[in-house]
Amino acid sequence: MDVKKTFIICKPDAVERGYVGEILSRVERKGLRIVAAELRTLTGETLSEHYAEHVDKPFYSDLVSFMTRGPVLVAVVEGPDDVVKVLRTMMGATNPTEALPGTIRGDLATEMTENLIHGSDSDESADREIKIFFPDLF
Ligand code: RTP
Ligand code: MG
Repeated sequence: MDVKKTFIICKPDAVERGYVGEILSRVERKGLRIVAAELRTLTGETLSEHYAEHVDKPFYSDLVSFMTRGPVLVAVVEGPDDVVKVLRTMMGATNPTEALPGTIRGDLATEMTENLIHGSDSDESADREIKIFFPDLF
């Protein structure tokens, strides 16, 4: 079985609410490995690269205001071949109202923008995002 990497962000609401430990603990309990992690305050420039597919969307300015309002924890997580999917399943639906109980968003969040965690949505996104945030890992 291949070892693959994905990229996560514990968003500002996770740091503010003291849920970084809870989120990382869920990741570790699942059997995934944290191979890099750092607390950082993101800039609009970094976010426009990270969320490139969203820059023209109507919600983008709210998303940037939210993501820059305080520190986040960026991390690289290693796991099985389908680690991207494993993590997306653990996160739950984008809208916490629709996220199932048992998921991070379903258990701990209620609002659309403030959904606690980002996770890469494909292997290609994971590679692209890890290069942005942890260029030395490659
Ligand atoms: P993420 O990229 O943060 O992991 O979230 P995701 O894949 O589940 O959702 P995505 O469609 O990529 O959206 C990125 C983030 O933008 C905010 N959003 N707001 N108001 C809206 O309609 C809306 N849609 C998306 C959310 O914070 C979402 O996580
Ligand atoms: Mg996304």
